[in-house]
Amino acid sequence: MHKVDFDLVELTMDTMKYVINRLSSNKLGIGKPQTAEHLKALVGETITSEGVGGEHAFKLWQEHLSKANVSIDHPRHLAFVPASPTRAAIMFDLVTSASSIHGAYWMEGAGGIFCENEAMRWMVSLTGLPTGAFGVFTSGGTAANLSAIVTAREYWRSLNKENNVKKGLIITSSGAHSSVKAMAKVADLDILLVETEERLEKAALERTIKNLSVEQRACLFAVVATGGTTNAGIIDDLDGIGDTCKTENLWFHVDAAYGGGALAADSVRHLFNGIEKADSITIDPHKWLFSPYDCGAVIYRKPKLAKKAHAQDGSYLDIFKDEGARGFNPTDYQIQLTRRVRGLPLWFSLATHGVNKYKEAVEKGIELAQIAGRLINENPNVELVRAPSLSCVLFRRIGWEANDYMHWTYSNHKKGLALVTPTKWRNGASIETVSRFCFINPDTTERDIELILDTMN
Ligand SMILES: Cc1ncc(COP(=O)(O)O)c(C=O)c1O
Repeated sequence: MHKVDFDLVELTMDTMKYVINRLSSNKLGIGKPQTAEHLKALVGETITSEGVGGEHAFKLWQEHLSKANVSIDHPRHLAFVPASPTRAAIMFDLVTSASSIHGAYWMEGAGGIFCENEAMRWMVSLTGLPTGAFGVFTSGGTAANLSAIVTAREYWRSLNKENNVKKGLIITSSGAHSSVKAMAKVADLDILLVETEERLEKAALERTIKNLSVEQRACLFAVVATGGTTNAGIIDDLDGIGDTCKTENLWFHVDAAYGGGALAADSVRHLFNGIEKADSITIDPHKWLFSPYDCGAVIYRKPKLAKKAHAQDGSYLDIFKDEGARGFNPTDYQIQLTRRVRGLPLWFSLATHGVNKYKEAVEKGIELAQIAGRLINENPNVELVRAPSLSCVLFRRIGWEANDYMHWTYSNHKKGLALVTPTKWRNGASIETVSRFCFINPDTTERDIELILDTMN
């Protein structure tokens, strides 16, 4: 199974044709799921005692299984937060796999970790955090948020041993991403949501803190603000919240998993003012920094606090921390031990294209949101729910109800035209189903948006 295999080398050539086709075409289908029963009927038994052979397995992938996935980088995939990895980053993802690097410790992965750190230095520079701040690549925003909040909780516990027996409390807004709420559950924390569809303001945060009971206040240790909500692209009042956190001695975490890429865009950078006051920041390169999955990142003002929280001890690990192995050990700053050097594709793409191309590509997403806003204003059948923010646009089809949006989504997806999904928006006391665009792919065109809006007529 592990011997050098020349048949496999030949098969590698065939798989490369598939990869080259994907990297060189702008006309790939959007893809749609099939039931597991249907897929099983198409491919039959694939895990057998003797194996079905690489050639056959790859044929099944190419002819059937690959088509049952949705291409997240299709220019008319405007649902969730889509992705649009650069060709250079995808290509280097293959190199990363072929290089077999254990990315936990410098002693094993110095070359790869060096490259990751070069890319990280650029990301840290976008935040305006002071010298000494640094970060590490994670499997995504959820892992980054969890790593940050565990660091915050361990720091809080270190301040006073009475905190060790308390259940910690964090405050965030109802617009925060579901992963913040899920993370609180994993870390066994209480979470208090400030109800607001719009941005979390300093005044609302201060009112919430003032209304806490004495017991609650004694358990409060962190505030999570959002730098670009997933639903609407809203950026909280980072400057004001940062000040409040400082006055109240609270850890200030900014979840910029989606919006963080826009720190590179001069046109909106001012909206993030105050992010430099954060104790920790989440940014997902697999969202708006054009990396392949999976690549998130967490950045700390004081990385040594993360090391105290996350460094693992084990007799077989001591050697990696030895004097001779001195260097940056990514495992020490987040929840994972064994890790892929997942920042490597980002490094290669940044090195290939330069940061200006990144700025341009992010600006394109913001411009597409503005174009969509104009097209919606010109179309009598639809209207904006709120002005576009970052690359998110919320809009309603006048007269439609929740079921209409659902059928419209399925119908466009079935036709292979687009994947644009509904979301919910609080409208006064009621919650309304509306539609949402989120632009990431710089290859999306005005014509793509027109084609989608035309299907709402
Ligand atoms: C603001 C925000 N935070 C966190 C996450 C979770 O990130 P991931 O899916 O990479 O774990 C997302 C995902 O969309 C997000 O938009």
